[in-house]
Amino acid sequence: MITVALLSRPGLMDPMKAPLARELPGVTFASWPGPAAEEAELAVCWKPEAGALAAMPKLKLIHSIAAGVDNILSDPTVPDVPLCRIVDPGITAAMTEFVLWGTLYFHRDFDRVVSNARDGVWRRYDQRVAGDRRVGILGLGALGTDAALRLVDLGFSVSAWSRSPKLLAGVRTFSGTEALDDFLSETDILVSLLPLTPSTVGLLDAARLGRLPKGAALILCSRGEHLVTEDMVALIRSGHLRGAVLDVFEQEPLPADHPLWREPGVLITPHMAAIASWEVIAQQVAENVRRLRRGEALLNVVDRARGY
Ligand code: NDP
Ligand code: OXD
Repeated sequence: MITVALLSRPGLMDPMKAPLARELPGVTFASWPGPAAEEAELAVCWKPEAGALAAMPKLKLIHSIAAGVDNILSDPTVPDVPLCRIVDPGITAAMTEFVLWGTLYFHRDFDRVVSNARDGVWRRYDQRVAGDRRVGILGLGALGTDAALRLVDLGFSVSAWSRSPKLLAGVRTFSGTEALDDFLSETDILVSLLPLTPSTVGLLDAARLGRLPKGAALILCSRGEHLVTEDMVALIRSGHLRGAVLDVFEQEPLPADHPLWREPGVLITPHMAAIASWEVIAQQVAENVRRLRRGEALLNVVDRARGY
């Protein structure tokens, strides 16, 4: 029998309990805080309270319910036990759909015509072929790779930036900080699919966004902390940037009175680019529990030194 400690805001993970109980018969759940959770060997987390994981002396595995683990590793006291994340073809497909939609939103001028339609303005814009539109993807991991390949399929001119050098058919690849400015200066639509780490926080500031060509657009799918929002707003207002689709924010939910909701050129979506189902999360957590019991290699282990 295993006890799973649930470290999140109250009730968030309730929908995971039934599918996880089907996968791991006899499992019991303990919400943090509480003595049963402190004794658990497995912690399943979304934004755990700082210090909570360090207060679990029997902990053998930390599992994220998300692809990103920044909300766990932001706590410097997280104990040195394996940390796993969710990687799933369904999430990848959903993210690719979102990126394709966002790219077409700007490429086919939906940002302009939706706004014009509100004012009863009939206006057509010159069309460009996809090959004339340069889409640049920050991050060429599980999500960025699939999105890049599908954009290539649609005929876009695609480039990507990663930490280590990569080769990907049809994609111009750049790596390392020294290549970032060149990558940005050749990007009309910038898509962020980076993990949030000390090296990527605040990456999209006035200097970096200013390297984009005039009229470029941003699709932010990664984390709100990658973007210096006021720098982006200033660049949109000055006309340097055309606009942005923002799916992630430093504060989520974005408060209803936040000025970004009403900023011309900015479209807000509610962290919905790719949402893992509770069934998939339960299956992946359970598979790693079975592997842990059998002493086998775990799936989707985070490299703690890299932070992703
Ligand atoms: P991966 O870990 O698979 O890929 C990360 C990529 O980013 C890698 O290519 C990596 O380079 C690159 N990278 C990391 N640090 C740097 C750096 N300092 N400089 C340049 N490149 C860097 O992540 P995923 O593709 O699975 O997910 C990416 C992020 O997407 C998640 O961390 C999460 O924040 C976000 N996300 C958002 C969702 C949403 O609904 N909005 C849903 C799911 C995820 P290298 O290949 O060299 O290691
Ligand atoms: C994320 C996720 O990391 O939803 O944002 O998986």
